[in-house]
Amino acid sequence: MKALLTGGNGFIGTHLVDLLRAEGHEVRVFDRFPNRFRPDRPDVEYLMGELGNQGEMEEAVRGVDWVFHLAYNTLPQTSNDDPVHDVTSNVVASINLLNECVKEKVRKVVFVSSGGTVYGVPQSGLITEDHENNPICSYGITKLTIEKYLHLFQRLHGLEYVVTRFSNPYGELQNPNAKQGAIGVFLGHIAREQPIAIWGDGEVVRDYLYITDAVKALLCAAQYQPQGESSPRIFNIGSGEGHSLNQIVAAIKTAVGPHVVVNYSNSRSLDVPCNVLDISRARTYLQWKPEVPLTRGIEMSWNWIKSLQLAKT
Ligand SMILES: NC(=O)c1ccc[n+]([C@@H]2O[C@H](COP(=O)([O-])OP(=O)(O)OC[C@H]3O[C@@H](n4cnc5c(N)ncnc54)[C@H](O)[C@@H]3O)[C@@H](O)[C@H]2O)c1
Repeated sequence: MKALLTGGNGFIGTHLVDLLRAEGHEVRVFDRFPNRFRPDRPDVEYLMGELGNQGEMEEAVRGVDWVFHLAYNTLPQTSNDDPVHDVTSNVVASINLLNECVKEKVRKVVFVSSGGTVYGVPQSGLITEDHENNPICSYGITKLTIEKYLHLFQRLHGLEYVVTRFSNPYGELQNPNAKQGAIGVFLGHIAREQPIAIWGDGEVVRDYLYITDAVKALLCAAQYQPQGESSPRIFNIGSGEGHSLNQIVAAIKTAVGPHVVVNYSNSRSLDVPCNVLDISRARTYLQWKPEVPLTRGIEMSWNWIKSLQLAKT
């Protein structure tokens, strides 16, 4: 198959590029920036452009079978600052992308949504895909809106799609200077010999998924053949296990050593206390399961972060 990855130079996209190439698929990356951590692969086609640019999108989608839609202009933490930007830059641009996919008769669109935000404040322990959707940040609303347009385009135009609601992927190539990704950010601080900053008491629980497991789910999603209208097309993708930030710090200490300093400060309003995804639907329909244990994943992430030789401050 020939795959287009919007946002293919980012954290998740780069790992997906490697997996798709390893499985013998042709790959085209569409991104506004070059890869932050490595040079272009000679066996991949790279197009530089903006998601919102119609002409560039037309060129990007031409001749592809699968579209993995990863490019996103906002983050959960900051999306409430400018919801208009969140809607125009993500929702409108994604609808334009779907129009191009219909014109090009793309076989499948795989969209990376967010299991951490589309459900809002969880009403149950393990969150299933049928949990109510009341996001408490604009990013969750725009992700959900794009999911709804995918459903609409499937009904109107027969454009096949799968939504993967990711928990918290972590691992090599996750930018340690970013505003999200607790494990990568924590390891970056440790590499620079800085204290780790935790908002609240560290008892906030999240579902962390190692990146190679996460991108395998995306490939399974592309290969999945829904049988008619009633087949599920929305899947939680996580580890299915919750870990508090304090437990993450403890696991990090096992990989890194005991001399890790943590500073606790006031909690943030957008941090729901617990978010752990029920992944049984993905196990059943995508025949996918997470394989890398947290301690091993953290160890591999730490080895990579150390190799960056971040400047100590
Ligand atoms: N990393 C996470 O914790 C996480 C969790 C759930 C969902 N997601 C979603 O997964 C997707 C990929 O996330 P990531 O962690 O790889 O992010 P990332 O920031 O590492 O990569 C995103 C890539 O998209 C590109 N991009 C952004 N806006 C663009 C635009 N307008 N035009 C062209 N390129 C653009 C960026 O240059 C970047 O290379 C996003 O949709 C994100 O919302 C991520």
